Amino acid sequence: MQIDTDKLNEFLGRFVGDLGAAVHAGMVVIGDRLGLYKALSEGPASPSELAERTKTDPRYVREWLSSQAAGGYVAYDPAADKFSLTPEQAFTLADETSPAYLPGAFQLALGSLKSVPRIAEAFRSGAGMGWGEHDTDVFHGCEKFFRPGYVANLISSWIPALDGVQEKLAKGGRVADVGCGKGASSILMAQAFPKSQIVGFDYHVESIEAARESARRAGVTNVSFEVAKAKEYEGGPYDFVTVFDCLHDMGDPVGAAGHVRESLAPDGTWMIVEPFAHDELKDNLNPVGRVYYSFSTLLCTPCSRSQEVGLCLGAQAGEARMRKVITSGGFTRFRRATETPFNLVYEARP
Ligand SMILES: C[S@@+](CC[C@H](N)C(=O)[O-])C[C@H]1O[C@@H](n2cnc3c(N)ncnc32)[C@H](O)[C@@H]1O
Repeated sequence: MQIDTDKLNEFLGRFVGDLGAAVHAGMVVIGDRLGLYKALSEGPASPSELAERTKTDPRYVREWLSSQAAGGYVAYDPAADKFSLTPEQAFTLADETSPAYLPGAFQLALGSLKSVPRIAEAFRSGAGMGWGEHDTDVFHGCEKFFRPGYVANLISSWIPALDGVQEKLAKGGRVADVGCGKGASSILMAQAFPKSQIVGFDYHVESIEAARESARRAGVTNVSFEVAKAKEYEGGPYDFVTVFDCLHDMGDPVGAAGHVRESLAPDGTWMIVEPFAHDELKDNLNPVGRVYYSFSTLLCTPCSRSQEVGLCLGAQAGEARMRKVITSGGFTRFRRATETPFNLVYEARP
């Protein structure tokens, strides 16, 4: 076997970066949970000053700050021996209302990784793992990770990209948000369209309970939440049905598409938000594809496998496969309405 030293060193460099990123996930979750980023965004601090601000132990804080500075997540001034956040770091790490808030992604990653022993076993047995069987960090991290993207795009660009939906919802429409999880998207739509009535459905009881609590805290009254599977929810006809990042998680997405079709008003619209993906594997072999294929192995594929049919589209299904699923469910019109680097947004009409 001939080892090319340059290629070996290049690969080892990549490995060091990845190992650092893997353990760094825990550092971000700690920083977020203890309010370390938020407190550091108030101004430069030594480890003991930050410990003082956050009522934490200075020795632990010094080690954490050092890891953050080494990873480029905080800035370090050696002359003053003080740490700080740049405006960009504060925007993405310290402000939960920011459209680019990142820590939820790491909470989701850590929560998902807790299922590694069971998923490794599932590789042998072929068994599935339902969404609700994961660690609670998966549900909370998922909402925290996805919500900023919805805040940034849903009302301002995704809904306006659909034919006539914005006008309909502004006048007052009936909306079903299927597979709504903790209801971030449902609540945003309810706030933006106060004359519309939104119902969020999900088969996971804990997520629906959390969604009800979020709506209550936000003081939004034109939204409600019900536990229901995508093929069984009731209350149509709806003017607008949405699925955010969950059609590929379902065991029977074709059956779900058929039920959406039946629940829609004749001139209704179905918006399908899916992870960004190309149709061909070779075109998904990039950093975004890596994130999604890994989450898909731990969360999406086992979730689908745990349900009837178990189609297992995976989180990188791509437009051609989605078109097939959606038209097989009885929709005659299907198009890519818009996209972001992380999401594809499709419009389907009866
Ligand atoms: C990745 S999460 C997305 C949650 C939410 N839409 C969001 O964007 O934050 C996938 C969701 O699909 C739900 N789900 C999976 N299969 C389902 C089914 N057959 N019927 C209803 N909900 C389902 C899960 O419980 C989970 O809340």
